Amino acid sequence: MATMAQTGEIHRILDLELGGTQESSSRRRKEGAEVPTGKTPKMNPVIEPLSWMLGTWLSDPPGDGIYPTLEPFHYLEEVHITHVGQPMLNFSFNAFHPDTKKPMHRECGFIRLKPDSNKVAFVSAQNTGIVEVEEGEVNGQELCIASHSIARISFAAEPRVEQIMRTFRLNAEGRLEQTVSMATTTQPMTQHLHITYKKVTP
Ligand code: HEM
Repeated sequence: MATMAQTGEIHRILDLELGGTQESSSRRRKEGAEVPTGKTPKMNPVIEPLSWMLGTWLSDPPGDGIYPTLEPFHYLEEVHITHVGQPMLNFSFNAFHPDTKKPMHRECGFIRLKPDSNKVAFVSAQNTGIVEVEEGEVNGQELCIASHSIARISFAAEPRVEQIMRTFRLNAEGRLEQTVSMATTTQPMTQHLHITYKKVTP
């Protein structure tokens, strides 16, 4: 298992490979969401039930990818979950090959909470040409969501993903876990990913 120092080093390497500088890398780790005023905004109370997801997270250990049609694989992932004072979270999930560090799957979007409820909507655009909406509930430090709408570009790779389910939870060690299952035109609902992240921001 990677130590905090190793995790920080992987994060710094990934950040520099993504075009950041030494200075921007360490500044981004120290600050929360960046806004034009340069001040970290006050968290909107609506998102308090999801505040356990906030931060920059790095896979530790590498994630596990599986599916009946695929050879099992591992991947690294860097996650940014921020807010800018609005009643929603902003997220990006950036996966990398564990050996070559080449970028792989990427997605970004928003997580919204219906005010005065535990109902959550998750909106995501993925580099594979998929755009999806998942909805579900947050209960304590666990968020369970399932897709009700998936759209794709006309030339996205086959097979088509028809349904997606995810669970995010903060485990007893303070690590974030994500599990993703999916159904495609060839396979019923089956797990595709499981990953544990260590927080790299305070
Ligand atoms: C919600 C997010 C994701 C969805 C909906 C998704 C969907 C899919 C689908 C439909 C396939 C084709 C399966 C088949 O051929 O039967 C696939 C393959 C694959 N996925 Fe994902 N995926 C997601 C996230 C990720 C992530 C985070 C990684 C990490 C690197 C990843 C890595 C792969 C790999 C390596 C393959 C096999 C090679 C390829 O087709 O590119 N996926 N995924």
